[in-house]
Amino acid sequence: MSRFTIGATDFELDGRPHRVLSGALHYFRVHPAQWADRIHKARLMGLNTIETYVAWNAHSPQRGDFDTTEGLDLGRFLDLVAAEGMHAIVRPGPYICAEWDGGGLPGWLFDDPAVGVRRSEPLYLEAVDEFLRRVYEIVAPRQVDSGGPVVLVQIENEYGAYGDDSAYLRHLVDLTRASGITVPLTTVDQPTDEMLEAGSLPELHKTGSFGSRADERLATLRRHQPTGPLMCSEFWDGWFDHWGEHHHTTPVAEAAAELDALLAAGASVNIYMFHGGTNFGFTNGANHKGMYQSHVTSYDYDAPLDEAGFPTEKFFAFREVIARYAAVPDEVPAAAMPAPVLEASFDTVLPLRDAVAHGTAGPWRSAHEVPTMDSLGRYTGFTLYRVGLPVAAGASPRVLSFGEVRDRAVVSVDGVRVGVLQRDHHDHAITLPAGDVLEVLVEDQGRVNYGVRIGEAKGLIGPALLDGTPLVDWQALPLDLDAVVASLGGGGAVSTAVDATRASSGAAGSAVDTARASSGAVPLAGPVFAHATLHVDEPVDLYLDTSSWGKGVVWVNGFSLGRYWSRGPQHTLYLPGEQLRAGANDVVVFEVGAAASAGLSFVARPDLGHTEQ
Ligand code: GLA
Repeated sequence: MSRFTIGATDFELDGRPHRVLSGALHYFRVHPAQWADRIHKARLMGLNTIETYVAWNAHSPQRGDFDTTEGLDLGRFLDLVAAEGMHAIVRPGPYICAEWDGGGLPGWLFDDPAVGVRRSEPLYLEAVDEFLRRVYEIVAPRQVDSGGPVVLVQIENEYGAYGDDSAYLRHLVDLTRASGITVPLTTVDQPTDEMLEAGSLPELHKTGSFGSRADERLATLRRHQPTGPLMCSEFWDGWFDHWGEHHHTTPVAEAAAELDALLAAGASVNIYMFHGGTNFGFTNGANHKGMYQSHVTSYDYDAPLDEAGFPTEKFFAFREVIARYAAVPDEVPAAAMPAPVLEASFDTVLPLRDAVAHGTAGPWRSAHEVPTMDSLGRYTGFTLYRVGLPVAAGASPRVLSFGEVRDRAVVSVDGVRVGVLQRDHHDHAITLPAGDVLEVLVEDQGRVNYGVRIGEAKGLIGPALLDGTPLVDWQALPLDLDAVVASLGGGGAVSTAVDATRASSGAAGSAVDTARASSGAVPLAGPVFAHATLHVDEPVDLYLDTSSWGKGVVWVNGFSLGRYWSRGPQHTLYLPGEQLRAGANDVVVFEVGAAASAGLSFVARPDLGHTEQ
């Protein structure tokens, strides 16, 4: 058992000055079988601490849930940190930003429009308390003074960039202390006087988030935190990517020099990120600064460990810098190896309309006015909308418009694709040909995780108008993609059973109108599902090449690797070897756009896209 405290000039471990050398590693972005490896590699770079956020919406996809199984087993993650002989910092939010869907705040939280966002509003606080109590049940027994690894807990996240409700912060502090958290509590803010002023309380230890100009930033921080250790709680060593932009990297020598300056100034640090990982499934967030920009699937972050956990040049440069200030182990992690190059063909193609017609994608719901996804109790993924078009009184074509599309709508009339409305193009209206039935397939591309749009609903936002007249009597179907994927054999069953199921259900007509694709590449006219069987001798990490596809999502053995988009910058998806099994594996692609000639191909190296240089 140890005591971790804040002294007059330093963090103190059992009364002795202690510098925190921490690296950010989000357990919810890394396969749980890889946690120990990534933590070990952090120690090899010379770090003594691992920091993680806690993603509320991952643990609680519905109110009342608190899932701590498998990849959400925070307790096990912290125990692995302890087993490596390292400390831990926990940042439970409830808001975490982090380029994560909604900044971690669950969509259901905002079902009641009276709910406040990041302020002391009772409905919001009640839900926050439920969540934090559960988190602290895991964290409290794992604090240093109980023999565990946790040395610091952060209150909120960069709150000064959002609000100034000190009663809200005080509520979080009171709940944290009442839940048995005894270690020092911190806040983090961007180093401006306004944000540092608004984002904290006198009893909390203030820290900064920045990636450059350490001396200047630490001086600003010092004005607001006159005593105790200076800490950069987010030393940004890389950056994240949006779809449609370049892939962000930072020059290694510059990043290392910035780290050196920070450590030379005597500061403690949390390197953000040490290892970024992946926004698997639909977990990415988005920015909205006048324009909606969603984050890509990879969260590589140009960090010391790449997305697949291999050391980069930055790893070795940082290790060298850290060695000037602290003991660094001699062992170094193994270098990156090229991944196996593999090919497979799609064997089954299932148009979305067939999955819908057979009920595999779930039941339709009715609503008079166009409903948001959230009002249907669905907070992620795709929703299909359908409405009858009134008989054209006047001339065709007619104009369809929505208040807003969140975030991307594929519009079709009588089953024929008309076009796409994209939020990031500020599209609201589209010309329709004559026809009877309008269908709109809407993708939630990730909830905004920073700024004033946190908590907004997704889907089609009314009014829905045809030539200015409201369209009413809608049907909406939040797609149960997992069910469709499972029906195609992606549900994790063993390969022989999968083949048998597909054959027998096809015969019974319930596997819908599957067209057996001939071997080789096939055209994919989306929205369509395509299945392939991938044979591997042994499960190893792979990079799936998505460059010949349009836009969609991929599942391997029922696990979603995330979104792909021809728009880039990212053109490969990381497939952790732990998701594979020796022998046959099910791969399902949901292609929303089109691909002229599609097959499965795995390449030797990741392609995260063009950089600015
Ligand atoms: C801020 C937030 C983090 C993350 C970074 C950018 O510092 O606190 O959660 O969003 O920006 O990667």
